[in-house]
Amino acid sequence: MKLYIETYGCQMNVADSEVVVSVMKDHGYMRTEDIHEADVILVNTCSIRENAETRVWGRLDVFRLARKKNPELIIGVIGCMAERLKQKLIEESKIVDLVVGPDAYRELPSMLVEVEQGKKSINVKLSKEENYEDILPVRYDTNGVSAFVSIMRGCDNMCAFCVVPFTRGRERSRSPQTILREAQELVDSNYKEVTLLGQNVDKYAWKDKTGTLSFAGLLEKVAQTNPLLRVRFSTSYPHDMTDEVLEVMAKYDNICKSIHLPVQSGSTKMLELMKRGYTREWYMDRIRSIKKYLPECSISTDIITGFCDETEEDHKETLSLMEWVKYDFAFMFKYSERPDTFAARKYKDNIGEEIKTRRLSEIISLQNKLSAESKKQDVGKTYEVLIEGTSKKSKEFLFGRNSQNKVIVFPKESAVIGDYVKVKIMRSTSATLIGEIQDV
Ligand code: 5AD
Ligand code: SF4
Repeated sequence: MKLYIETYGCQMNVADSEVVVSVMKDHGYMRTEDIHEADVILVNTCSIRENAETRVWGRLDVFRLARKKNPELIIGVIGCMAERLKQKLIEESKIVDLVVGPDAYRELPSMLVEVEQGKKSINVKLSKEENYEDILPVRYDTNGVSAFVSIMRGCDNMCAFCVVPFTRGRERSRSPQTILREAQELVDSNYKEVTLLGQNVDKYAWKDKTGTLSFAGLLEKVAQTNPLLRVRFSTSYPHDMTDEVLEVMAKYDNICKSIHLPVQSGSTKMLELMKRGYTREWYMDRIRSIKKYLPECSISTDIITGFCDETEEDHKETLSLMEWVKYDFAFMFKYSERPDTFAARKYKDNIGEEIKTRRLSEIISLQNKLSAESKKQDVGKTYEVLIEGTSKKSKEFLFGRNSQNKVIVFPKESAVIGDYVKVKIMRSTSATLIGEIQDV
């Protein structure tokens, strides 16, 4: 039997698809990359913005054609859209047989049996415990160098704009033993980099008879697995990011000096409306701390523009904060109202599309300028680069990232994927750093 799987949304969804493929493999399903060969199609979905969902509805139209050719084909929607839309997916698509929320992937085999008997099957139960911690993910779309390791699931923050607490349920941490075992297994299989994943990694908390473990403690233990294993993590939350984490980062060379710290807005008024739990000043204090403990650290962020009641003044505060932090990278979005969130229930989505578009383009052009400046400053420096693959543009070039998570392209010489090499940056373009290997 063959499974075709597509994944949308965040890194957590990528990691979840690896769990799903593992569950399906144990149930006798091989993966295929050809829709027309598939017995089962699963699409792992995202609900974060309306356009993420629109894209999946578009894919369902394509799967509809595949079903015409193969009437036995089973089509399933899994992940955040499954959780949010439930029965509606079956009713409105007319082709979906299977709807599985993020905490129900273990049930896939028994659900498939129901579908094979001609029924529709839905399981969108959220769990307070499920971590899939005993399931070894099948890293099917891998470069063999870097891997995701999920350390916690869910989110208790309840930001006013966000659908995640509704689609992924309550926060829960995975046991350190299983995380460390997975990290060791990756080292044994020659992986060189792990990214620890959670919606809010700073809230990682484990408690058992032997004591408690915070995120800082976990990070340290993972870093100690092997000095040649690079460790990254995502995502940090400004309100919860502690100096303790920064101290651990400073102590270990193999913990990458790169922090993704979503700010969302530079205006305290907006942050309050967004229910983010911190002010502009608090955020600036966190950035000062990062720069103090980790002067070489790159900082990236997420920004939402056009949230309810955002004035020109608020928008300018976002721009000025961006200039102040000098972000190396940013994901920037127009606010998209999500049904049932606090904002959808209590506020008006009252910033017109034209204004949202204009503000977003101002934010993007400022970030382009900041990113270019940050790259220009790297020219002449030498970085340790972990090689991840061959450049898309030329077989003679390899690419990898430095500790700061910046992509660097360079002539391959005798280096191979998975090597650490010292690369001197010779020049920069808007998207990339271009360098030369100093030694192999
Ligand atoms: N509209 C636009 N962007 C959103 N994000 C989360 N919810 C929304 C929304 N309703 C953005 C935030 C978050 C990132 C993952 O997606 O910036 O950090
Ligand atoms: Fe999208 Fe959020 Fe779900 Fe990830 S957790 S798939 S970003 S809605």
